[in-house]
Amino acid sequence: MSDSPLLIADHDAIRVITVHRPDKLNALNAATLDALDAAFAAAAADDAIRVVVLTGAGPKAFVAGADIAEMSALTPVQGRDFSLRGQRMMRRVERMPKPVLAMLNGFALGGGLELAMCCHLRIAADTAKVGQPEVSLGLIPGFGGTQRLLRLAGRAAVLELCLTGTPIDAARALQLGIVNRVVAAAELEAETMKLAAQLANAAPLALRGILDCVNVGGECGIEEGLEYETAQFGLVFSTQDMREGTRAFLERRKPEFSGS
Ligand code: COA
Repeated sequence: MSDSPLLIADHDAIRVITVHRPDKLNALNAATLDALDAAFAAAAADDAIRVVVLTGAGPKAFVAGADIAEMSALTPVQGRDFSLRGQRMMRRVERMPKPVLAMLNGFALGGGLELAMCCHLRIAADTAKVGQPEVSLGLIPGFGGTQRLLRLAGRAAVLELCLTGTPIDAARALQLGIVNRVVAAAELEAETMKLAAQLANAAPLALRGILDCVNVGGECGIEEGLEYETAQFGLVFSTQDMREGTRAFLERRKPEFSGS
């Protein structure tokens, strides 16, 4: 049996990546960060894959955080490197050229919430709990939590979650805009795969254009963002999928997107 901390399975054009350390509630140690980095690089490069779903093994946790046992012995320089390692991997996920869905099947705490936030959409079981509990360990978030939670849910939410360290339930996470959808735990997998299939049938280059516009435009001023969107809008006119999508509409049929 492989000792990889990940399970990877393809369902047609959907790749499901599962963090697999259930006895440690899927905590992110250095080996898991590196395995995720390699898995997302491979998924980005594989044209047969159009959507990635990320989840955690077992009934209890998506990811319960960075590995506290591993972190407890780090020197300041090693701590900085550990943060960079996590941030590099999560930036790769955020900049993926295809949609990444986080399927939150339980605790998404600390590095687990940070990992969920670098995904493009988050679907949570009604039993899930999310939070940034680092302060309870005398730590602060180090994989982008203070920055992504600020951008995702605003100052009030980031300060509440990070300063108190208290996890919140899925319903409150939905209210704050931290997750996109909450579904009954028993329906989580089916609902996530349904959404993934919808995205897998969409025009890949249009999806990529949207992801690029939000990622790049979201980090610059409105003028530059609009200019970037205009450039991307022009670019999609070079795709066969755009011709197919508009023609199919006019011919009153379903489009078939090839990704070209
Ligand atoms: N790092 C390393 N190990 C972790 C972990 C983490 N972030 N979270 C859980 N584990 C381990 C526990 O040490 C335990 O291992 P053991 O059986 O070898 O002792 C195992 O996972 C099960 O966790 P346990 O605490 O017994 O489960 P629980 O149901 O009682 O509590 C949590 C669940 C999520 C509330 C609790 O595990 C927790 O608070 N985890 C840490 C969350 C956190 O602070 N994350 C941010 C880290 S910066």
